Amino acid sequence: MDANKIELRPIGTIYSPFQQAQGTPIQPAFAHEAEGIVEVFDEYVEGLKDLDGFERIWLLFWLDRCSEYKLTVTPYMDTEQRGLFSTRAPARPNPVGLSCVKLERIESNKLYIRELDILDGTPLLDIKPYSSKFDCFEVSRNGWLDHVKDKAHKADERFHR
Ligand SMILES: C[S@@+](CC[C@H](N)C(=O)[O-])C[C@H]1O[C@@H](n2cnc3c(N)ncnc32)[C@H](O)[C@@H]1O
Repeated sequence: MDANKIELRPIGTIYSPFQQAQGTPIQPAFAHEAEGIVEVFDEYVEGLKDLDGFERIWLLFWLDRCSEYKLTVTPYMDTEQRGLFSTRAPARPNPVGLSCVKLERIESNKLYIRELDILDGTPLLDIKPYSSKFDCFEVSRNGWLDHVKDKAHKADERFHR
C-alpha cells in the first residue's frame, strides 16, 4: 500500500436536520435537541450486531462541504488565532469528523441517533462503540478552551464553501 495515498470507502450516510453550517451545533455536547438517522449500506449491516447495547457511539465521517484548510484558524469558541490541530475546526487536511452521539435504537440498517453536529447527507466512514470503561478520562488541562467563556455553540460559514 502506498502510505501517501489512502483510499476510504463510505459505509453509509448520516441524515440530520442541518442543511448548512450556519446554526448547526458545533459539538454533540451542544446539540441536545438534535435527532438524526444513520443509514448503513446493506453490505455492512451484519457488523451492527451487538451495537444496540451501547448508549453512545462514535461516528467518523467525511466533512465533505468544507472549504480549503488553513493551519491557523479562529475557532468558533474563541476570538484568537489557534493552531488548527489544537481545534476541532472542520476544514482540515483530511476532513474527518469525530462525534460521540447518543444511540436511541437500531432498526435493520437504520441507527436512530441524537445529539449530532453533522450536516444532512454526510458520508459515514466508521462506527465505534463509546465505552466509559476506556473513552472517559479526568483531565486537568483543556488548553485554550480553559480560558474561553460562553462563546458560540453554533457554527457559521467560516470553514465552508
Ligand atoms: C466543529 S465541527 C466538529 C465535528 C466533530 N464533532 C469533530 O469534533 O470532529 C462541527 C461543525 O462541522 C460542520 N459540519 C458537519 N458536517 C459537515 C459536513 N458534512 N461538511 C462540512 N461541514 C460539516 C457543521 O458546521 C458543524 O457545526
